[in-house]
Amino acid sequence: MVKVLASAPGKVTLFGEHAVVYGYPAIVTAINKRVYVEAELRNDNEIKINAQDLRVPGLIVSIGEGEVVVTTDYGRSLAAMSYLSKAIEVTSKFLNERKGVNLVVTSEMPVGAGLGTSAAVSVATIAAYATCLGHELSSEVIAQLGWQVEKEVQGIASPMDTTISALGGTLKLWYEGTTVHKTPLALSSELPLVISYVEREKTTKEMVAKVKELRNRHSELVDEIMKSIGFVTNKAEQALLKNDLSEVGLLMNVNHGLLDALGVSTRRLNELVYLARSSGALGSKLTGAGGGGATISLVQNSKAELVLNVLSMFSLMSFKAVINTEGVKVKVLAK
Ligand code: MEV
Repeated sequence: MVKVLASAPGKVTLFGEHAVVYGYPAIVTAINKRVYVEAELRNDNEIKINAQDLRVPGLIVSIGEGEVVVTTDYGRSLAAMSYLSKAIEVTSKFLNERKGVNLVVTSEMPVGAGLGTSAAVSVATIAAYATCLGHELSSEVIAQLGWQVEKEVQGIASPMDTTISALGGTLKLWYEGTTVHKTPLALSSELPLVISYVEREKTTKEMVAKVKELRNRHSELVDEIMKSIGFVTNKAEQALLKNDLSEVGLLMNVNHGLLDALGVSTRRLNELVYLARSSGALGSKLTGAGGGGATISLVQNSKAELVLNVLSMFSLMSFKAVINTEGVKVKVLAK
């Protein structure tokens, strides 16, 4: 039976999350934590998912009238599961073809920590399922389908997470309608970043909805904040290209302040950000949708150990980021 292994990276948003949903640019980079999806064709029409790493131990998905039905004994299936099942549905519709598969999903990343797991799950599932069905999709097409998955699950989403997970590297990215503009950024050195995360209190979907509600109540105010985030992101692009780390750090701090103003930071995230700064980081901000989740701190080598130790004490996990990594990869294990 045909068997395929696909993997896709997580990401950190260096600048511009949330504003990117409203058409402003963001700078995002792929990290060396990946989601793996192994897909094996079945003789019947069933889709079986084993996603222990997503903390849903055994779950049957069947394809009904044009849509994928997820059945689980658990009252609440993890948010990541809705991306997985939607990815199968969207791929089937796009290829106009359906076959049963066994899917085994594993993740090197904590799920829902703000590192783009849901996008990586979507992208790797699309690639694995399509390849099993005998189709070789380009990374660009996988990115577009992945975006569709995120939009359908979240209601509103930018193409940022799925694009970086499919293409990899570091991108400045923005979109107009369905057109995604992207400029690869050749960073002059590896950015010395530390990623830390704390428990997620809210999902990406909820955080995006929260910002939308605030914008409905105070559109001019929120639009000014979004515009400022866009301005900071453009400045940061220049600073990154010049490898001016102290300027990059300063702009990270400003970006965090603007995200806090949008109401997406939390006390725990603010604590991490301030601890990092007071331990010597050049800058620190939340990354991703917020509501708990991850922060990134820019740390020069001489301070790296101290910052990492301090952040480790106050977070669930802290580690040095390896950025600029490869996008989606597919390997055929059996034909
Ligand atoms: C989530 O990683 C990033 C957000 O900007 C949402 C999105 O871009 O769809 C908060």
